[in-house]
Amino acid sequence: MANQRELDYILPGRAESYWLATIPESNYPALQGDLRVDIAIIGGGIVGLTTAYLLKEAGFSSIAVIEAGHILRGVTGHTTAKVTSQHHLIYDRLISKFGKRQAQQYAESNQAAIEKIASIVASKKINCDFVRKPAYVYAESEDSTNRIQNEVQAARNLGIPAYFEENLPLPFKTYGAVRFNDQAQFHPAKYLSALAEEIHGDGCHIFEKTRALKIKGEEPMTITTDKGSITAHRVIQATHYPIHDKPGLFFQRLHQSRSYVLGVRIRDPFPDGMFINAEKPARSLRSQRTDNGELILVGGEGHRTGEEENEISRYQNLEKWVRANYSVDSIDYRWSTQDTISIDHIPYIGRQTSGNDNIFLATGFKKWGMTTGTVAAMIITDMIAGKLNPWEEVYDPSRFKPVESAKTFVSQAVEATKGLVGDRILPVHKEASDIPPGEGAIVKIEGERVAAYRDQNGTLYALDPSCRHMGCIVSWNNAEKTWDCPCHGSRYNAAGEVIHSPAVYGLPEKKVKK
Ligand code: FES
Repeated sequence: MANQRELDYILPGRAESYWLATIPESNYPALQGDLRVDIAIIGGGIVGLTTAYLLKEAGFSSIAVIEAGHILRGVTGHTTAKVTSQHHLIYDRLISKFGKRQAQQYAESNQAAIEKIASIVASKKINCDFVRKPAYVYAESEDSTNRIQNEVQAARNLGIPAYFEENLPLPFKTYGAVRFNDQAQFHPAKYLSALAEEIHGDGCHIFEKTRALKIKGEEPMTITTDKGSITAHRVIQATHYPIHDKPGLFFQRLHQSRSYVLGVRIRDPFPDGMFINAEKPARSLRSQRTDNGELILVGGEGHRTGEEENEISRYQNLEKWVRANYSVDSIDYRWSTQDTISIDHIPYIGRQTSGNDNIFLATGFKKWGMTTGTVAAMIITDMIAGKLNPWEEVYDPSRFKPVESAKTFVSQAVEATKGLVGDRILPVHKEASDIPPGEGAIVKIEGERVAAYRDQNGTLYALDPSCRHMGCIVSWNNAEKTWDCPCHGSRYNAAGEVIHSPAVYGLPEKKVKK
């Protein structure tokens, strides 16, 4: 439980992603009635929109993108938006665990994604603050220097322009860094809003406020939504966790991780580059040009969803760290996001292994979705167009890696199902009467476990705490004021309405005496 000092902490900045605060809200129509298209895409983030854009560019003319809320408001709108093939320290591990061929596919595909974004920005003249930057992973302790040097070698071995850097222009001691040249950063919401405009029209659609509820059939398939149904020959699940996972294949192969960002104004100019440390807790830094000068995005504090009882402390840790290292003028924004991570830390991209060749999925981007999301769009577009893609193998959703030990699989499976089993026997922390206004907790009322939230007027809302996806017990996120499911990332607002799939129905009210 949080101590009093932590509870008294006032969260800094406005609770909104800078990206979403600086674009107009989209206003695409909701689906009305039933529709037939060639290709339906569920999810209006970077994967869904880039795939729709590339398919349309490749000559497909009957596409529908369905988004439950507004496009870009999910994980994509809450990223730090580094456009890089430098996904922390990854290449040395990839070569040793998967071999050079597959490591090469990963490296090449992500380098190609940077160039794909650059070429779309240039050809469509998209004003999205796209700039080339070097990317660095730095060592905070001498113990990490070896890992950095090994990464430089591994990346160079795969053809990435990687270099060892002795000294960094950062205001704290570092012990060497790996630098990748010619990486980039951008404003993802401006970029993808422009793609959305290219997609909508001429037989292609974007439907907002249209929640996909289920997918049935084989060829064609029917997507039932809360507004009507869409029949399509190909379906792409571009949601952060597949809503259609009937055989439960991904249930034990993905886990959720939450991380936090502060948008900070500092007195001194920020150096040229994007930075992240090699150790934990993560400290990620990049700058962003804004109308009011430079904004520094400070990210990190990742943890498994549902394992933190006091999410507010994560913002507090980031604030302490940035104030200890920089002269801070103001903290203007704060936001958090929830990413999906696969067992072997490589995304699943391609045909879903459900015996139906016409369903595709892309998930498990492990916080690096700007490039891997674009890779997903490139691979799936090629698959649908019947072209051989050179990077399919490493991302194949049906892969089984003997190199990943059974022990790893079992421990991941335990983590993925923790909320289903373990949370059910965790003690309940509070009485309903202990919950202050604006807070929530899992409590027992009349012997029944209840997700209880007290609004600012003192009214108590009692919800069934079993997630509508597969029944895990949700936990209260005191920083975002949401109910988060630790198993596959469903999120609900304080009133129990779904804000993040794979759950498609809200938490029902629990009939108890309050
Ligand atoms: Fe799967 Fe909650 S049980 S997201």
